[in-house]
Order: sequence, then C-alpha cells, then structure tokens
Amino acid sequence: MNIERRSFLIAAAAANAAAQTGERIATGMIGVGNRGSSLLNGVLQQPGAKVAAVCDIKPDRLDKAATTSAKDKPDAYKDWRRIIDRKDINAVFIATPPHMHSEMAIAALRAGKHVYCEKPVGVTADQVREIVKVAKASKTVFTAGQQLRSQKQLGECVRLIRNGAIGNVIWVKAQRHATSDLPHDGSSGDWYFDVTKSGGYLIEQSVHNLDLCNWVIGAHPIRACGFGGNMMHKNDPPGRTIFDSGSMTYEYPGGVKMSFTQNVFHPRTLPLGGQYVHVYGENGAVDLMGGATFHPINRDEKPVVLAEKQEEYEHAHITAFFAAVVKGEPSPANITIGATAALTAILGHEAMIRGTVVSWSDLGVEI
Ligand SMILES: NC(=O)c1ccc[n+]([C@@H]2O[C@H](COP(=O)([O-])OP(=O)(O)OC[C@H]3O[C@@H](n4cnc5c(N)ncnc54)[C@H](O)[C@@H]3O)[C@@H](O)[C@H]2O)c1
Repeated sequence: MNIERRSFLIAAAAANAAAQTGERIATGMIGVGNRGSSLLNGVLQQPGAKVAAVCDIKPDRLDKAATTSAKDKPDAYKDWRRIIDRKDINAVFIATPPHMHSEMAIAALRAGKHVYCEKPVGVTADQVREIVKVAKASKTVFTAGQQLRSQKQLGECVRLIRNGAIGNVIWVKAQRHATSDLPHDGSSGDWYFDVTKSGGYLIEQSVHNLDLCNWVIGAHPIRACGFGGNMMHKNDPPGRTIFDSGSMTYEYPGGVKMSFTQNVFHPRTLPLGGQYVHVYGENGAVDLMGGATFHPINRDEKPVVLAEKQEEYEHAHITAFFAAVVKGEPSPANITIGATAALTAILGHEAMIRGTVVSWSDLGVEI
C-alpha cells in the first residue's frame, strides 16, 4: 500500500470514528462569501457539528465568518490547504468559485474528509471525470450542493411521478429566466462573468433546474443541441465571456425530450417569467416547481395537487449531509447526482458553443 493511500485510510477511519463517538464533527469552511456565509449559518445550527476553521482569501469575509462562528472558536486561514492538512478536521464545506471545486474537493477527499461541495462539482468534463474517480474510491461522504434534493414536497412529487402518477413521462419543458443580470459589482462579480471560472449561466445557475429534470425523468440525457449567445449584455461587463441567454433541446432514453431556455432579460411584468419545470406524462402534466399540481389531459378531470406543500427547513441539505456522516444515511446528493447534473449542463453548454448535436458519450466521463 502506498503512503498516500495509507494516510487516506487512517484519516477516513478517524473521520468515521469521530462520527460514531458522538463528538461534534469538526468542520472546516472553505470560501465564506455569499453562499459560504449561508452554509456557515447552517452548520452552526447543527447540534452535531462545530466550526473548527474558516478560510477565505478576502480578509473582510474571513473576519466576518470568524465573528459569526465565534462560539466555536474557529481558526481563520487564508490558505485552504491549512484546512486540508488539519488531521482533527473531519468535514469540509467548499463554496469557492466553481472552477476551484474539483481541485479542493479532491484534496479533501484524498485527506480522508467528508465533503460538502457547492454546485457545480466541475465546470469541464475533465474536472468532473477526476472528481468522480476520487469520490467513488473514497470511503467518506460526498454531497453536492444540489439542495433541491432535500426539499420534501419536490421529493414526494418526483417519487409519485416516477411511480406512474401521470403515466410515462414523455416531455419536459423547463426554464430559468431572470429579470436582470447578476450585479456586476456584486459578491461574485469578480468571477461569474468569466466562463473559465463560472462555466457560464447554464453550468453555474441552471444546474439546479437541469438536476430536477434528470431526477424526474430518472435518467441523464443522451444528446443535446442548442444555441446561445449574448443578446443584450454584449461585452458588459467588459471582457464578459458568459452567455446571457440560450435555448436547448435534450434527448433522453426512450426518446423523452426536454426543452430548456434561460435568459437574464425577462421583464418583471411579462408573464411566464422565473423558473419552472413542467413535466408532461401520457395522462397529463405537472408543474413541478410551482405547487406540484397535476393537470389531467382528460378535459373532464379537474387539476389536483399531487404532493402537498410541506414545512421546509432552509438547511435541510446540511442536516442530511451530517446524517450521512454520523448515521451512515445516504448522501442527499452523492457524486453520481452532482456529476450528472454538472455534465448535463456541460453537455448543453458544449452544444451551444459548437452549434452541433453533442452526445453524452462525447464528454468521456463514466459515471
Ligand atoms: N446551492 C446554491 O443555491 C448556491 C447559491 C449561490 C451560490 N452557490 C455556489 O457557491 C459558490 C460560491 O458562490 P458565491 O455566490 O458565494 O460567490 P462569492 O464570490 O460570494 O464567494 C466565493 C468566496 O470564495 C472565496 N475564495 C476565492 N478563492 C479562494 C481560495 N483560493 N481559497 C479560499 N477562498 C477563496 C472568495 O474570496 C469569496 O469570498 C459557487 O460555486 C456558486 O455556484 C450555490
């Protein structure tokens, strides 16, 4: 056994032992900006966890995170590798810009830590391939920040549809339309508009919506085509390389089609804005994100709510992550889910860039 493998096994055993002895899980937070601050609050609310360290390259954010979590007396680092090197830290949260996720998550997994990694798990097929390889070989928990997977009403609605409540799913129409671009001087303005860092709108934002489509169809797409571009925000901000809009068609096993559009210029008062996932079955359609109501195709039948609204806890995904660490429950969004969501977005992005049909197999990643 090589040294790296041996130290990984020792660290993973320590992480799992800490989980079983009832000690609070020592947790390190890498990236405490907009999303990382919210995750930090979520971790602080978990009785089984303590914040052992916070990390960010921006001093103001680091100070704020250290103050927020002062009750746990965390160490504060500028260099994320200090967290990876800490043997007493068993779990790591990663909320840095997307292009850094795979490198950081791989290092944490190799050090035997449980990992909660924000979406997307990678911005290129190469990054996703590497993280899949390492996460699958790891004995620790990996959870992608696809937190819709922990919403109870959505989960129930997907379960009912997958069990045949609307007949076979034959078509999905989904969209993510925003009324404006992300603020150029906002929290993520220094990376979001650079496609090499964010992956683009489809990969960085719509990955949530695409994950829902995969979940309800019960498969990943086989191929995609589409077009996208910058129709309104041309070179704004200067040097912008991400698209502001796009339109894609995906094909799934059995010929199921999914049509997806995105833009950041949907006027607030124009109808049909925002986000939705309409799932069409042989017996009717469901508005998955908007109340889970089933609309029968038969004109004599009235719409019915398929899955009732439930009380949803904001940090349910984080609770589920720690339940996986401590109680051995399944990860709420394991590497297969996280990688499939990212690759679905990468597939659509590639189709827009190339202007041709791109196949899943062209991405060269075994899931
Ligand atoms: N799941 C969700 O609903 C959700 C919502 C928002 C953002 N996100 C994801 O969270 C991630 C962060 O997004 P954000 O909006 O918080 O961006 P942000 O820019 O506000 O935060 C990123 C933080 O990472 C820090 N950082 C950059 N390089 C670092 C390094 N080498 N070491 C340590 N820290 C470093 C930055 O200084 C910044 O504070 C993105 O991947 C985004 O897609 C997820």
